[in-house]
Amino acid sequence: MNAPANAYRDAQQRALEDPEGFWGEQAAALHWERRWDKVLDASRAPWYRWFSGGRINTCYNALDRHLEQGRAQQTALIYDSPVTGVTARLSYRELYERVARFAGALAARGVGAGDCVVIYMPMVPEAVVAMLACARIGAVHSVVFGGFAPHELAKRIDDARPVMIVSASCGIEGQRIIPYKPLLDEALRLASHRVERCIVLQRPQCAATLISGRDLDWADAVAAATPAPCASVAATDPLYILYTSGTTGKPKGVVRDHGGHAVALAWSMRAVYDMRPGDVFWAASDVGWVVGHSYIVYAPLLAGCTSILYEGKPVGTPDAGAFWRVIAEHRVNALFTAPTAFRAIKKEDPQGALLARYDLASLRTLFLAGERCDPDTVLWAESKLRVPVIDHWWQTETGWPVAANCRGLTPSPVKPGSASLPVPGYDVQVLDESGQAVAAGKIGNIVIRLPLPPGTLTTLWQNDAGYRESYLARYPGYYLTGDAGYIDDEGYVWIMSRIDDVINVAGHRLSTGGMEEVLAGHPDVAECAVIGVADPLKGQLPLGLVVLKSGVARPQEKVLQELIERVREHIGAVAAFRHVAIVPRLPKTRSGKVLRATMRAIADSQPYNTPATIDDPLTLEEIAAALRGLGYAVAAGAGTAR
Ligand code: COA
Ligand code: AMP
Repeated sequence: MNAPANAYRDAQQRALEDPEGFWGEQAAALHWERRWDKVLDASRAPWYRWFSGGRINTCYNALDRHLEQGRAQQTALIYDSPVTGVTARLSYRELYERVARFAGALAARGVGAGDCVVIYMPMVPEAVVAMLACARIGAVHSVVFGGFAPHELAKRIDDARPVMIVSASCGIEGQRIIPYKPLLDEALRLASHRVERCIVLQRPQCAATLISGRDLDWADAVAAATPAPCASVAATDPLYILYTSGTTGKPKGVVRDHGGHAVALAWSMRAVYDMRPGDVFWAASDVGWVVGHSYIVYAPLLAGCTSILYEGKPVGTPDAGAFWRVIAEHRVNALFTAPTAFRAIKKEDPQGALLARYDLASLRTLFLAGERCDPDTVLWAESKLRVPVIDHWWQTETGWPVAANCRGLTPSPVKPGSASLPVPGYDVQVLDESGQAVAAGKIGNIVIRLPLPPGTLTTLWQNDAGYRESYLARYPGYYLTGDAGYIDDEGYVWIMSRIDDVINVAGHRLSTGGMEEVLAGHPDVAECAVIGVADPLKGQLPLGLVVLKSGVARPQEKVLQELIERVREHIGAVAAFRHVAIVPRLPKTRSGKVLRATMRAIADSQPYNTPATIDDPLTLEEIAAALRGLGYAVAAGAGTAR
């Protein structure tokens, strides 16, 4: 670390006071086909645009540029798959060749600039190839996480309206093979939007049945293809859509642009992660999530690093030493994962005995994000790995960290439980309900003053009104993060909870509102509520409380089983929806608002106040009794008014 001592403060001040100068300088690190007219175009505020008038190709910057700069032989991607026993290394040249060829295959099927391509794939190199190939020809990819069920995939197909879907015959979850093709076929049956073409990667573990006239084997498509050159793309054009959970069951299509995204991500690799070209970066996430988009695919490649694509779990593939093996084998310099992965490892190997088998000398830093990180996990990881453990905070919407300990600028002391300081470019503030800034240490709604820095969402896919309503309307001039927390007197940001119906299950962002819609669709359900309750491994788990219609005579056990299956079938296994109780009624205020926060406190065995506005205090005792029945350790006396 040779950075001057005040590099963080300097960068933060400059990025806020002179954003055009600051980001214009960072942009110079990339190849521009045409230089921008304006770094920050505020002419249509609050629809800010970065690098307007510029033309850039993200794929060119992630691959071709490195060939020209002598990195052709360097490994770009290491595919490490304990579930198949395969490890493969792709150099920048090899990855470039595969991407250019697949881009040619897409172009040959009429996919062009601005067309959307949905990618529904497991963690295989072809998923990365497909994403970069879209970027190469200016098509807009929308990757859907493999753990989502056909209904969720169908919703995304209907919203994104792709001209093509790229998928694979199966994913592999631990020992289990999950055939993807039947899920894709079902999604296409459910969707109203018609997709004319699918390209399917046949994996040796499972052969998919292809539908003649619609489906094409990946191998055939590529064999016949001519490599495609990079298209000229406006910096402000969309690079991808990534759907994320909001308050309702309708996912929000976050849109990312080309220019601002490339600039911010390349800069973040140096400033936040302290990575240099040639370093090995491992984001143990999934390409279906934002962490995978940003830090498995785009940022490491834009920065000339080696990125690891890991098809496995932290435990069980084959044991809790899996992460240490990958670090040792590939000389990983920085690991980025969700706290839940470390909680899983700690649970299986509390003493960290498996660490002794591996040489972890290459590891410089562990980064954690995706959910609130409990201080115990930070301290355990620190004591076992003996490297700085950096909790940092961001969202699908922002695409890169909002608060972090910027390791490449000026590292600051770690405070376990805090995501550290605002990253340069983000003006993070905490407001109360009336829009007033709150004092240091006081909890409120966390907002970011507009404009957001480059790389953040530009809007929601074909839904400017939804973007405004979800993020900008609450506090004019600010972006509403949806998180509550505080900033302490040293400027550290502490993220405490969500202010909406979003929950975080094993680092996966899910909507309880979406689950409620699924439960409410069951013919026996009169009304229901889903809340996120604390879980020592996954951070949070969903818990359903349902009121049955009067006169339902079917065995309750059967109904409960159907409800669990229904969520799995409609949302996916990833929801981990296993706990549901039948209650006589839901606790409500006199105006009919369901008291979710009070129920959550009961389930979490926390003290709570019976709200003065409650319709009938007895309903809380009924909830407490139902939760005890499910095995929850509801505190004695809970349910009684305090
Ligand atoms: N395709 C199909 N199914 C998937 C899937 C995928 N890509 N990803 C998860 N699932 C399924 C799992 O098989 C599991 O199914 P099951 O209920 O039949 O067992 C279910 O979805 C839940 O999966 P998961 O959340 O991974 O839980 P787990 O119990 O299998 O493993 C952890 C627990 C903690 C090891 C795991 O959640 C983990 O590694 N978390 C890290 C999270 C992460 O990287 N988040 C990204 C943000 S940085
Ligand atoms: P996602 O969009 O899936 O990345 O989820 C974003 C949400 O996860 C944030 O809005 C937070 O609620 C939560 N989150 C992410 N990182 C952190 C963190 N470091 N600390 C606390 N919460 C976090």
